[in-house]
Amino acid sequence: MSKKTILITGVTGAIGGATAQELAKGKHHLVLLARNQQKLEALQAELIKASGNKDIDIMVADLSHIASIKKVANEFKQKYNHLDALVNISAIFRANRELSKDGLEMMFATNHMGPFVLTNELLDLLKKSEPSRIVTVAAPSTTKLNFDDLQGEKKYSSMYSFGGSKMMNLMTNYMLAKKLEGTKVTTNTFHPGLVKSDLVKEMKGPLKLIVNMMSTKPDKAAHALTELATSEKYNGISGKFFDFKQKEKKSSAYSHDAAMQEKLWNLSTELANK
Ligand SMILES: NC(=O)c1ccc[n+]([C@@H]2O[C@H](COP(=O)([O-])OP(=O)(O)OC[C@H]3O[C@@H](n4cnc5c(N)ncnc54)[C@H](OP(=O)(O)O)[C@@H]3O)[C@@H](O)[C@H]2O)c1
Repeated sequence: MSKKTILITGVTGAIGGATAQELAKGKHHLVLLARNQQKLEALQAELIKASGNKDIDIMVADLSHIASIKKVANEFKQKYNHLDALVNISAIFRANRELSKDGLEMMFATNHMGPFVLTNELLDLLKKSEPSRIVTVAAPSTTKLNFDDLQGEKKYSSMYSFGGSKMMNLMTNYMLAKKLEGTKVTTNTFHPGLVKSDLVKEMKGPLKLIVNMMSTKPDKAAHALTELATSEKYNGISGKFFDFKQKEKKSSAYSHDAAMQEKLWNLSTELANK
């Protein structure tokens, strides 16, 4: 397999960290993106030591803040003239309603606008680098979006906002795949299954206990993500949703609603360019 340049987010977390570890062993050129410089530097040193791969760079950005995402995308394009794969992994779960620097509900900002803006800002480079890939970590959400209250101003529910943000990942992927038809840039989403991580640390009550009991190590998810980003078996495959067994999954009928996808896309583009 040829050496690829891969940008990965969420690398200071469980699934992102394990994925970066596996990709580093594959001797790819990795650019690790996270918001915490100290954690990033420690991870960079650890990965270089463990894999012997010195081609590991870092970039800092707050993926809940649109200006920060645009800035890092520009930095990336100035520094590198090629991108084979963008792997969007970062996300958060918040029990209580918080606002981002842009005044958006924090899970909407981080989990949806983060990958939406980063992907769109890097799309010209991905097209120049084709064949290239986008992989975004989602979940099999069935949440229907309430466009009258997407920011949870009238009524906030953490489960609704989290589920909504993961529905947005699915919808964005299907819409983007249609937009990318005729190019050699593919885009797919991925469900890691339940994985032990800090993601649900703010989840309350018995649900947290159940999630923790059912969660496993991130190895399988990391392996599947590595394959989705690099393996030839995914050449030309786009607009799909895969699980950690690398099996194609069906997402809800609602996630395929073209009118809802377009509504979300247009609103997100407006917010990104405000
Ligand atoms: N774990 C599961 O069971 C499960 C199930 C379904 C889907 N998923 C999905 O899998 C993905 C990874 O989750 P995980 O379980 O590995 O979670 P995690 O361990 O909590 O990792 C989340 C990552 O996102 C980063 N992040 C959060 N906010 C950010 C921001 N504003 N800017 C930049 N980076 C930010 C975190 O950085 P910091 O280290 O700085 O906080 C961390 O690296 C997510 O998309 C999640 O929705 C997970």
